[in-house]
Amino acid sequence: MAQPCPAQFLDPASETAAIERSVGSSAVARASGIVLTPPDLALQLAAATLPQSYTETLRVLDPACGTGRLLTAAARIAAERNISIEMFGVEHHQALADACREALPDAHITCADALAHTFPPDIDVVLMNPPYRGRMRTNNDAITTLTDALSTRFGDRLGPYADPAAGFMLLGLDLLSAGGRLGVIVPVSIVAARDAAQVRSALSRTCDTVTCWSAPAAFEAQVHTASLVMERRPESRDTPCPWPSMLASAAGVPLIDTIPAATIGAIATATADFRDEYYALRDHLVECDVCDNAVGLLTCGLVEPGLHLHGQRPARVLGTRWQAPGVRRASDIEQLLAQRLVPKVIVATQTPLIEAVADPEGQWLPVTPLIRVSPEDPDHLWRIAVSLFAPQASALALHRHFGAGRAPATLRLRAKDVEALPLVDDSPSLAAAIAALQSVTPASLIQAGHACAAAWGPFPDGLLDWWVSRLPRRLMGQ
Ligand SMILES: C[S@@+](CC[C@H](N)C(=O)[O-])C[C@H]1O[C@@H](n2cnc3c(N)ncnc32)[C@H](O)[C@@H]1O
Repeated sequence: MAQPCPAQFLDPASETAAIERSVGSSAVARASGIVLTPPDLALQLAAATLPQSYTETLRVLDPACGTGRLLTAAARIAAERNISIEMFGVEHHQALADACREALPDAHITCADALAHTFPPDIDVVLMNPPYRGRMRTNNDAITTLTDALSTRFGDRLGPYADPAAGFMLLGLDLLSAGGRLGVIVPVSIVAARDAAQVRSALSRTCDTVTCWSAPAAFEAQVHTASLVMERRPESRDTPCPWPSMLASAAGVPLIDTIPAATIGAIATATADFRDEYYALRDHLVECDVCDNAVGLLTCGLVEPGLHLHGQRPARVLGTRWQAPGVRRASDIEQLLAQRLVPKVIVATQTPLIEAVADPEGQWLPVTPLIRVSPEDPDHLWRIAVSLFAPQASALALHRHFGAGRAPATLRLRAKDVEALPLVDDSPSLAAAIAALQSVTPASLIQAGHACAAAWGPFPDGLLDWWVSRLPRRLMGQ
C-alpha cells in the first residue's frame, strides 16, 4: 500500500510523551536502548539505502522501529523518487508502537519482541538503528535480558561480549531477500571488535557493502556510529570485510597503494605490557630530578610523533601528576627494567596518527598501554622508526584498523598490528629519512614527514597535507 506523502516525522512533544509512557524518563530511555535517530541522519541512511527507482512496491522494514523515524525517512525518500512503498515496523514498547502508528497510519506496525517475531517475507529494504551496549551501560538488567535473547536466537554466531547491535545486524541479514538492502546505524566499534568478527564475516560473505560513513557522537547516543549500507548477493562468497577501509576512505584517509613487502615483525618484536607490570612500579615512582640514578618513565601522553616531552610536559602515573616521572632502581623491579631498558621504538595508542619515538640508548621505561618495538639487531632501530613515522604508515593503519580507537578515526594498534605494518626498504632515501628523524624537533616535524614518506616510496596526492592536518596542534605552536 503506498504511503500518502510526504510523511512527516512525529512532533518531538508526542515522541517525548510516548517515551515517558513507555519507560518513564529520557535517561531511562537511553539506558533501555531507546535513542531516536536524528531526522537528518535517518534521511541520509534512507537515501543511501533505497534504490533510485523501483517498478514494484518496495517493502521496507524496521524491526526496532521506535516512533518510526527511519520508516518516515524511507517514506519521504520513496516519495521523492516516485517509488511506491509498503512499510513494516516492530517495536516492543506499546507506547512507541502506538506513536509510530500515529506517524505512519498506513504502515503495518506490530508491538512485539523482534527477536521472537515472525516477519513478513520478501522484504526489499531493512533499516535499523538498534539498541547499543554503550548507550545501555547504566542498565545492566536491560543488557542482560537483550544479550540472553540474542544468544538464544543466534548462538555462537555472536561472541559472548558482542554488542547487541551486532546481533540485530544478523537479524537484519536474516530478514533480507536476495538483492535486498540493509541500512544500519551501529557503534563504530563493531567494525573492529573481536566479538563481532563472526557478524562481520557473515555480512561480508553474503552482502556487498554499497556505502558507509562514520560520525562522531553527534546526538544524545553518546556513541560514535558507523552507517553501513549493504546489498544481499544472490550467492555467498568469502570476502574480507571491507568496512574499515571504506570507512577510512569516507573519513578522507588517503588510500596507500605502494606497500613495502617486508614487515616490521620480520626484524622486531612488539610487546604491550599488562597492568600488573605497571602496578609493580607503584612503590618506586619518583621525580627524576630529585633522585640520582632514576630511570625516566614515558606515558602515552608524553609520546608524540618522532619525539617525547619528558620533563617538558607533566604526566599522570598511577593517579598522581609528575613533572618528570621516573622510577628508582630496586631489586624487585630489576628484571622488569632489564627487559625494557634496551634499544626500542615506543608507540603510543589512541592517537590520530602513529605517534612513535625511538629510544636508541634504551634509557626510557615505557608504561602500559605504550607498545615497545625491539629489533633483533639494534642497527635496524631507525629503519623501524622511519617506517612508523612515514605518513603512509598512519594512513594504512587507519585503513586496516578503523573503528578500533575510542573515536572513529583514532588509532589503537595492538602489538601484533604494529608488527604487521610494512618496513621501508633499505634505499638511499632511507639514510636521509633517518637523519631527519634523528634530529627532529617540533619545528622540523613536517620536513621529517616528507623525508620518511619519500623513503617509503610513491604516495598519493594529498597524503602529506592529510598527515600534517592530523599532527598534534599542541606541538606545532597552535
Ligand atoms: C535506538 S532506538 C531506534 C528507534 C527508531 N528505529 C529510530 O531510528 O528512531 C531502538 C528501538 O528498538 C526498540 N527495541 C529494542 N529491543 C527490541 C526488541 N527486542 N524488539 C523490538 N523492539 C526493540 C527500542 O524500544 C527502541 O525503540
